Amino acid sequence: MAKIAVLGYGTVGSGVAYVLDTNGAQVADSAGEDIELKYILDLRDFPGDKHESIVVHDIDVILNDPEVEVICETMGGIEPAFTFEKKALEAGKSVCTSNKELVAAHGPELVELAKKNNVSYLFEASVGGGIPVLRSMNDSIRHERLDSIRGILNGTTNYILTKMDKEKADFDSVLKVAQEKGYAERNPEADIEGHDACRKTAILASIMSGQFVKHEDIYTEGITKISSEDFEYARSLGRAIKLLGSCERKNGKFFAMVAPFMVGADNPLSTVNGVFNAIDVHGNMLGDVMYYGKGAGKEATASAVVADVIDIVKHRGKHIDWNLRNVPAQVESNENAERQFFVRVDASAKDAALAQFPGAQEVTASGVSGEFAFVTEVISEKAFEEKLTLLGNVKGYIRLL
Ligand code: HSE
Repeated sequence: MAKIAVLGYGTVGSGVAYVLDTNGAQVADSAGEDIELKYILDLRDFPGDKHESIVVHDIDVILNDPEVEVICETMGGIEPAFTFEKKALEAGKSVCTSNKELVAAHGPELVELAKKNNVSYLFEASVGGGIPVLRSMNDSIRHERLDSIRGILNGTTNYILTKMDKEKADFDSVLKVAQEKGYAERNPEADIEGHDACRKTAILASIMSGQFVKHEDIYTEGITKISSEDFEYARSLGRAIKLLGSCERKNGKFFAMVAPFMVGADNPLSTVNGVFNAIDVHGNMLGDVMYYGKGAGKEATASAVVADVIDIVKHRGKHIDWNLRNVPAQVESNENAERQFFVRVDASAKDAALAQFPGAQEVTASGVSGEFAFVTEVISEKAFEEKLTLLGNVKGYIRLL
């Protein structure tokens, strides 16, 4: 019997209790022994809740209990989660977490601390919700040289983009539904401005490079500038608009970014809809492998946390090693990346646009008038920005994949 504690009884924390209650027999079968939830730490009380009797308000009750082997930190945010995780590892308890913000900011040092104390630090649920992508990268395909990772990493924004596209729904009302369903962050700006996807990209990029890619070094754009007209043009081009996180090795350089892309119909990422996430990882021997599943929500995310608990129990007495070193990675400036862009300018700027982008291909869309839209030739981000500045009258642009 292994005893665990959950820190934070919100969406994911209560999900962990629910998964253990519902799938207790399967969890025991997988771990080789029963897993008991001994404590829940939260500031609140939960009268009437099935687990109200195990709710505690003092972290030391958990840290000082030698029976507790694993701590699931599902509070989110940097503090007090960071302090609690460090204390848990120093007390010889393994930690697993869904806290992408904390893993992106301090993951490598927490892995180091876990190693020093011969326990483990796992964070499967921090990327892709319930999708077992990190364990696979760290284990099944760790022998590959990973060349690129591209993914839809935020369930809330994919849900919003899908509803705007398929049902012509309005941004704010769809965001509200995503919040009600437990997909969105407490501060939804983290979703819609791309910060959440940026943290997840930083974690993937760190594991891909085996070094520490800081989220501050990742160029990030969200989805707030995407309009209904953009979807009309995307349809006309046979493309879908998706917020992508990407990391890529090219000519010995390492690129990482988060931004909306118009994705071609031949790319499977274009068909990933709703709260689903998908991550395409390219290994030098393996080629492409695609991970797909629910990227947010209580049960799916909690299932990934429980998978970490099981892994830890199966490796009791050992540190589970991560290809994630506390060595700063060199991320190339986004300016040097090259690609095509879809651009919309005021109709009056058509001639100027054709002068700046001589290879431009015009795009039309039903019901959209008074503007000139086009797709550029392949061009560097830097050159594109310079031309755009000279042009003026720009209504918007989206990168092509
Ligand atoms: N807000 C996040 C999302 C939750 O929508 O993907 C899962 O990390």
